[in-house]
Amino acid sequence: MAEFFLPKNSKIHSGTTHPKPEGAKRVKKFKIYRYDPDSGKNPRYDTYAIDLDDCGPMVLDALIKIKSEVDPTLTFRRSCREGICGSCAMNMGGKNGLACTTAIEDISGDIRITPLPHMDVIKDLVPDFTHFYAQYASIKPWLQTVSNTPGKERLQSPEERDQLDGLYECILCACCSTSCPSYWWNSDKFLGPAILLQAYRWLADSRDEMTGERLDALEDPFRLYRCHTIMNCANVCPKGLSPAKAIAEIKKMEAERLV
Ligand code: SF4
Ligand code: SF4
Ligand code: FES
Repeated sequence: MAEFFLPKNSKIHSGTTHPKPEGAKRVKKFKIYRYDPDSGKNPRYDTYAIDLDDCGPMVLDALIKIKSEVDPTLTFRRSCREGICGSCAMNMGGKNGLACTTAIEDISGDIRITPLPHMDVIKDLVPDFTHFYAQYASIKPWLQTVSNTPGKERLQSPEERDQLDGLYECILCACCSTSCPSYWWNSDKFLGPAILLQAYRWLADSRDEMTGERLDALEDPFRLYRCHTIMNCANVCPKGLSPAKAIAEIKKMEAERLV
């Protein structure tokens, strides 16, 4: 098979090619990134030819089939299989998404699958989320209050609750952050679209009483202002959310309190 996926001078080698099953008529090739950092070997792409007439419709179905029937060493994350847990996030055919909600037929030609870009790799398609989760913890993603209302619920009007639509649905899959060029280059300091959307989720919550402190913590040339409205984040979000819009709302709140 032509190695058209491999960049010139790439240290990623072509690996094993697994042939198509006997008698298969509708064949799709999956070219999958394989890497074990502990092995001392460079990454490679292994190619698997799958019979689409004997496979479920989603990319995750193909990965599970490969692991079950062809190569048990293939490593990837998945859990819910219905776009809720966010654990099967990866790059398929050049675009980040969830393997369980991405249809094989929506990607033309051979399908190249890699881990989410610009994250350290633990093994094969499993990226290391340690830094991402630490950034999430840094925005204090819980309701913070100072007023004392013993025995009373903190109520919201339907209109106040509506302000959380487009925010609460985020499953923290990191498809957006790992498609953001600003996050690629500055992820040590820039919080990235996923975490900033989460930060805005608490700023937008009428019950939270730490708005000033939250805005203080975000007002920084790197943490917030590395977003240059490139919009990759909104283009890839598998839940149809717009982190870029949430980031713009935070910038607006920062500007308005200066007036
Ligand atoms: S809009 Fe901002 S956060 Fe979204 S991809 Fe662009 S630079 Fe990144
Ligand atoms: S905003 Fe969308 S792409 Fe980003 S982490 Fe949340 S669900 Fe995933
Ligand atoms: S397996 Fe849960 S989102 Fe894909």
